[in-house]
Amino acid sequence: VTIRPARADDLSAMQACNLQNLPENYTMRYYLYHAMTWPSLSYVAEDAKGRIVGYVLAKMEEDIAPGDEPHGHLTSISVLRSYRRLGLAKKLMLQSQDAMASVYRASYVSLHVRKSNRAALSLYRDSLGFTVQDIEKKYYADGEDAYAMRLSLKQ
Ligand code: ACO
Repeated sequence: VTIRPARADDLSAMQACNLQNLPENYTMRYYLYHAMTWPSLSYVAEDAKGRIVGYVLAKMEEDIAPGDEPHGHLTSISVLRSYRRLGLAKKLMLQSQDAMASVYRASYVSLHVRKSNRAALSLYRDSLGFTVQDIEKKYYADGEDAYAMRLSLKQ
């Protein structure tokens, strides 16, 4: 499995992977917006046969509050079930984070995750070093709370 930057012709496979793995889904227009606007921030994991088995969709935050610094935002990440625990999500995240810092001078990266999502929480907190910044009550459509998490990208 190789990790490489997402291209326009990967977007429908990324969308298919997202639909299989997560209840938070996006329009093709939103995938295209990410890929066209921040081409170095989204990556795919591709198997030997050219199938997309994981992706990270990320962007730079567009509404920066007064006093806040430019920062990246992780829109969505997922890896197909039979490819999990191989380190793919961690590699996808690190590639995107590196580009946020080097291409866009992001000072940190933010994301939201369901309180009950143990695998993702462990990836973010234990493996990548994110910390919980806040709890956003009923952030998700089904009423579940989100942890708002952050990781500094400085030096
Ligand atoms: N249980 C506990 N810890 C886990 C688990 C798990 N099931 N999965 C990953 N981790 C942690 C471990 O610390 C792991 O390191 P280790 O394997 O050396 O112990 C570390 O994360 C890295 O794991 P990866 O192998 O890189 O993670 P993987 O490729 O399996 O993908 C992911 C993790 C993306 C969360 C996957 O389980 C998935 O696709 N889940 C469904 C979709 C999802 O929940 N996405 C995140 C939603 S939030 C958002 O998108 C902003």
